Amino acid sequence: MMFSQRMPGELVANRLSIAVAALGAQGEAIIDLTQSNPTRAGFAYSPGLLAPLADVNGLTYEPAPFGLPAARQAAADDYARRGVGIAADRIVLTASTSDAYGLLFKLLADPGDEILVPRPSYPLFDHLTRLDALVPRPYDLAYHGAWSIDFTSVDAALSPRTRAVLIVSPNNPTGSYVKQDELDRLAAVCGRRGVALIADEVFADYALDARAAGAAGRVLDRRDVLTFALGGLSKSVGLPQVKLGWIGVAGPDHVASAALDRLELVCDTYLSVSTPAQVAAGELLARGASVRAQILSRIAANYRHLTDRVVATPACRVLKSEGGWYAVVQVPTLEPEEELVLRLLRDDHVLAHPGYFFDFPHESYLVVSLLPPEAGFAAGIGRVMRHFECTAERVNAERVNEDRLNEHRVNEDRVNDERHE
Ligand SMILES: Cc1ncc(COP(=O)(O)O)c(C=O)c1O
Repeated sequence: MMFSQRMPGELVANRLSIAVAALGAQGEAIIDLTQSNPTRAGFAYSPGLLAPLADVNGLTYEPAPFGLPAARQAAADDYARRGVGIAADRIVLTASTSDAYGLLFKLLADPGDEILVPRPSYPLFDHLTRLDALVPRPYDLAYHGAWSIDFTSVDAALSPRTRAVLIVSPNNPTGSYVKQDELDRLAAVCGRRGVALIADEVFADYALDARAAGAAGRVLDRRDVLTFALGGLSKSVGLPQVKLGWIGVAGPDHVASAALDRLELVCDTYLSVSTPAQVAAGELLARGASVRAQILSRIAANYRHLTDRVVATPACRVLKSEGGWYAVVQVPTLEPEEELVLRLLRDDHVLAHPGYFFDFPHESYLVVSLLPPEAGFAAGIGRVMRHFECTAERVNAERVNEDRLNEHRVNEDRVNDERHE
């Protein structure tokens, strides 16, 4: 049987998921520091939260490529809540952010064209681009007490086949916002080449550092380059299962209009957004505010705990996160990251993601979700850190042993030398 080249060559489970499944089969409980499904993280969802999905208006199917006007207005109003001005006719509804990527890639690029993606970032970009027969080209984010875009790597990644530059703000997993000056620089690059800017802002509601969030680039204010901003219920109100997202479109008017004309054809072909979800959009966005508030307070508390706890373990450090649902801990490289996460799972029954899942340029990093309930999060981080305290002691002990051994060798040499004299 012939399958598309878009499929990966091998479909094998990684060692970590095999190990997790094996522990699960033995009935062993683990602390999952990778839990990023908000509906499984112990938040109080009011039982009537999804009642708007049963609205009687959902019984009528009125196909609308960009979505029902009231739902598009609800998304525009949600931008206004965040201080972003956009007209409802510049909003395109989607079933999810992943769906939005698929629609935009079809609008902008041909098979073999290239999309610049940040590194480290969301691992799904690899599949999302390849499933549309596109090629992801990474540009680097560099850490120097805070993350920033390495523009040399942007220049190196650009090619005549580049069709879009993708940014994630705040990013998963680095938690870094793309700042206004960085956005201006990227927009200049895109403008010169007639390349679009795609900004994934799904975590925009979750600032851990208000100043950094305030310095974030204002994507939908762009008038110089075709720009798409992505958001959705999945993160903004913790309802990934409802499957409702959106694209905000900005840029020079004639270019934005030309893009919308063509995007309409793509959206009309798929009509992927459910009518009940659209009918319910306004109510869900309003009612979901309480879930958003719980998530925000949870990630802030867990991030605080993480930074306090890691400070007590000098061998490790938390990389500064400005927002979003993840945090990154740099740990000593005493074994490959994969061995480390497998060992943490096997010996300590705690699951964290290795940095290489997110394409960190070198080892060793652990990526943790800030969503798990506080007590479990603290216990899990405690287990991870204890591992490194032991390791630090072990390393010190090994160093002392080595020093002693060296001293012994030097003494022996000296004795031998004296004997020969
Ligand atoms: C950066 C980023 N974009 C998009 C998504 C997925 O959003 P959706 O559920 O709307 O497809 C995620 C999920 O973790 C993400 O981390």
